[in-house]
Amino acid sequence: MIPEDKTTTAPAARKFFIKTYGCQMNVYDSARMSDSLSQSGYQPTENVEEADLVLLNTCHIREKADEKLYSDLGRLRRLQAERGSGRPVKIGVTGCVAQAEGEEILRRAPAVDLVVGPQTYHRLPQILRQVAEGAKIVATDYAAEDKFDHLPLPPAAAARARGVSAFLTVQEGCDKFCTFCVVPYTRGAEMSRPAEQILREARQLVAGGVKELTLLGQNVNGWHGRGETGAEWDFGRLLFYLAKELPELRRLRYTTSHPRDMTDSLLAAHRDLPLLMPYLHLPVQSGSDRILKAMNRRHKADDYRRLVDSVRRARPDIALSGDFIVGFPGEDEQDFAATMQLVADIGYAAAYSFKYSPRAGTPGAVLPGQVAENVKTARLEQLQERLGAQQTAFLHSKIGADTDILLEKPGRHSGQMIGRSPWLVPVAVQTRAAAGTMIKAAVTAAGRNSLIARESGRSA
Ligand code: 5AD
Ligand code: SF4
Repeated sequence: MIPEDKTTTAPAARKFFIKTYGCQMNVYDSARMSDSLSQSGYQPTENVEEADLVLLNTCHIREKADEKLYSDLGRLRRLQAERGSGRPVKIGVTGCVAQAEGEEILRRAPAVDLVVGPQTYHRLPQILRQVAEGAKIVATDYAAEDKFDHLPLPPAAAARARGVSAFLTVQEGCDKFCTFCVVPYTRGAEMSRPAEQILREARQLVAGGVKELTLLGQNVNGWHGRGETGAEWDFGRLLFYLAKELPELRRLRYTTSHPRDMTDSLLAAHRDLPLLMPYLHLPVQSGSDRILKAMNRRHKADDYRRLVDSVRRARPDIALSGDFIVGFPGEDEQDFAATMQLVADIGYAAAYSFKYSPRAGTPGAVLPGQVAENVKTARLEQLQERLGAQQTAFLHSKIGADTDILLEKPGRHSGQMIGRSPWLVPVAVQTRAAAGTMIKAAVTAAGRNSLIARESGRSA
């Protein structure tokens, strides 16, 4: 046997760069892929120019998100050409466009070496070995094995790198089939991770210094699984379990929820768990019953109003956020007025609103009555003006309020830190306390998307 030569310097580690588009689940997936690559001998870099592997973790939700991919691939092709064979750079497309377009990406962008869908991330190390030998790989099948069983848990250093606040996917995919949405096709059928697997990962993150966890799922409150005693648990029960088992955790959040899955136990969690922050992202999409039906949302506008009332009874200080689509096929002025009315009735603290973007393969794309672009633009402007005014009103309503702030990072000014209020809004505050500390503060002013506060003490 040849003895190991301890004096030989190891070859310089290959470096990877990941660009993340789209939703928080992609941010989470990028972190898990980073953990996996780090364990396969790669090092992360912030500089795409020095990377040996570039992954674009893509989003397919709207047309614009797609277009970004191809313009970025154009730039990467030039980088690849400049680098030549001396120090080649491999290019990968992951995420939802990878899943939706597969082989087509290789045809449109031959510079790409690997195309890997969200259900196959655990196979990355093996795929990269094949790519290193010159293969082009498209891996978009739904793997029979559970990727979460095979992806490495974040090691301590990786958990620390997540910072104060981390995402944790507990549920993936969607069976609801809203007629505008690609998610059931890109992320597949609904699946819930087992409670114990979630707890194990959460413990690892908390041990690394994470103080706030945001549980993720395309339909997060549709999570269900078996509890300790084998009993069937729903999402509310999972929240109680995590709160009990993670005494060092300071804050718990979740996103994105569907109105149909707001169970009594989830409302009870909002009422009884101080750890669960008073913020709820509850998309409604439209205020018109006719359009809600065409969207296959399976609830009416008044069901949503009643639900919001129940949530507010459970947690009166809750900040509500929502998603809206304008210009869904068949939407007329009356339908749009119903959306504006719903917004007026609910009063949102924050919201995301979009023009309907027809997505190939979804039922909405072939519905009659597609709405003209200029009409969509005008409606979106009107809606965003109202939502913006509500956001401003919400922020101003907090001036004078006492609040807890979880500090996240230094601000732009000397001695300033940026933290988060319970309502998710970032807060700037002068303090000597470090990131990860919870402080008490009084809100003194409101900006467009943020608050300013004065420290009044430390939280226990
Ligand atoms: N067009 C416009 N907006 C969409 N969304 C999802 N699909 C589409 C589409 N085809 C929006 C919805 C959803 C959010 C994540 O993106 O509002 O809740
Ligand atoms: Fe975009 Fe949906 Fe995929 Fe997230 S799950 S990246 S929002 S298409």
